Amino acid sequence: PDLYCVVGHPIAHSRSPWIHARFAELTGQALVYEPLLAPVDGFAAALAAFAARGGRGCNVTVPFKHEAAQCASQSSQRVQLAGAANTLTVQPDGSWHADNTDGLGLVADIVQGAGRSIAGCDLLLAGAGGAAAGVLGPLLAQQPRRIVVTNRTAARAQALVARHAELAALHKVELLAQGQQGLEGDFDIIVNATAASLAGGAIPVPAGALRPGALAYDMMYGPAAQGFLDWARAQGGQPRDGLGMLVHQAAAAFALWRGVQPPAQQVLAELRKTLS
Ligand code: ATR
Repeated sequence: PDLYCVVGHPIAHSRSPWIHARFAELTGQALVYEPLLAPVDGFAAALAAFAARGGRGCNVTVPFKHEAAQCASQSSQRVQLAGAANTLTVQPDGSWHADNTDGLGLVADIVQGAGRSIAGCDLLLAGAGGAAAGVLGPLLAQQPRRIVVTNRTAARAQALVARHAELAALHKVELLAQGQQGLEGDFDIIVNATAASLAGGAIPVPAGALRPGALAYDMMYGPAAQGFLDWARAQGGQPRDGLGMLVHQAAAAFALWRGVQPPAQQVLAELRKTLS
């Protein structure tokens, strides 16, 4: 069977091996997908050793997504804009092709999982690190009316917006960076792409930013997402954690590698059951 992996540090907690094994089972694909722990300063060496063992493709998680984008000899436009990759595929000449399916995963879970349309709505993206950069392009492609990027460090939000200005114009989306002032009551969808909860920080958007019934999406899941989801519910929003994004980004990677679309919604339902 063909060999794949997810590489990160730490990696033992990763649900990706379970998700991909289930995809393979349900689509009849013969593959092995393993967790691969790389030393923090040893990503490139771990990747080379994996390729030498015959590895065909690799998902990349924290903290290696930036390095993954750099080590590839070819990369998608999404990766070039994000500066981060989560999916690597071996090319016939042995070099790596990099893609980023995080944004596709987020969009698929908002549309199919939460049943929301992004087109025409006002969206607030909190955060301007790798997680936010990885999803901005695919969010723009859904043609919301407006995306506001807000971040603790304003300069980072401005840089992210500047990098995506051309793509925003192409999709006719108003894209801007803004501080916490003036965000009240304006948004149909809020996406939390910050690490504030891990850092023990406050909710990274001001109270009142959500319109009634707005979707409040945290890209994390489990205990790390709980504070934001509780806050969103108390604000009259519809909370949703990032478990669906995890499954859908995996499904998009699986489809790139195998040319087969796995049943992501079914596997998400199964995963929720095993975690509850
Ligand atoms: P990631 O790849 O997870 O996005 P990152 O590049 O370190 O990691 O970015 C973390 C994001 O969470 C950033 O937007 C960061 O804000 P800064 O750019 O100001 O650092 C945000 N973040 C982290 N801790 C935070 C806190 N306590 N409050 C608000 N935002 C926080």
